[in-house]
Amino acid sequence: MRPIKIGIIGGSGLDDPNILKNRQEKKVTTIYGEPSDVMIVGDIEGVPCVLLARHGRKHDKMPGNVNYRANIWALKEEGCTHIIATNACGSLQEDFPPGTLSVADGFIDRTTNRKQTFYDGEPGHPPGVCHLPMEPAFHPLVRQIILEAACAAGIKIRNTGCIVAIEGPRYSSKMESLMYQTLGAHLVGMTTVPEAVLAKELGIMYAVIAMATDWDCWRATGEKVSHKSVLKVFQKNVQTVLGLLKVLIPRMGMENWDESIAEMEQLAKDSVILPTH
Ligand code: ADE
Repeated sequence: MRPIKIGIIGGSGLDDPNILKNRQEKKVTTIYGEPSDVMIVGDIEGVPCVLLARHGRKHDKMPGNVNYRANIWALKEEGCTHIIATNACGSLQEDFPPGTLSVADGFIDRTTNRKQTFYDGEPGHPPGVCHLPMEPAFHPLVRQIILEAACAAGIKIRNTGCIVAIEGPRYSSKMESLMYQTLGAHLVGMTTVPEAVLAKELGIMYAVIAMATDWDCWRATGEKVSHKSVLKVFQKNVQTVLGLLKVLIPRMGMENWDESIAEMEQLAKDSVILPTH
């Protein structure tokens, strides 16, 4: 069985290093620049993991300024075969009240100013043009094992969820929020794109555990999203997500991922058109 290593990308507040044993900080730089912060390598029940705070441990990088390419490249160089991302989101649907967890199964990209590929033609970057299939948006077997782990831990989690990724850092206007609803999205966040895309370009299995933290602003009555409301709900539910990770990671360590790793590597390779001269 090929060894696995699990990258955990912690969203705001979900980057608690205490979940890892035998922790070591690792500062790296990449051909795409600096990741958001040091990587923390360690293990959960013997399964090698790497924790990275998406916004930096001081939360000093707004979603549009996160160096997603450096983050994903650094995790790949560290040997990550999987990434479990966590993500605070606004809810766009009545049946996703704040506090709801979701194993997202789709995204809609409304970002406007982000580098979405490693294959950008710049010197020193990988050569070629990458046309990457984005269905499925998230890895089905990783999604499945998250659902199973949640079930085993008695944690309620939705088996669906389409995340609209917006540019931010502002929240949406009411008309935008209503439009996203019309599109069929369940959640709105600021980081799923390009993170999921870049992970797939490097052949890493990626899935996201999303937490609804607020009602965004589409409802006629009630509280509209604010940074304070997001933090409040987040802090109330963060232990549940950490508890889920503690059950999930050891289960992932028991699976044989050889076939999936090979498939993802092949997909990444087959998606690149190399120069023909
Ligand atoms: N993150 C948490 N709540 C959000 C919202 N309403 N919109 C975008 N990102 C969010």
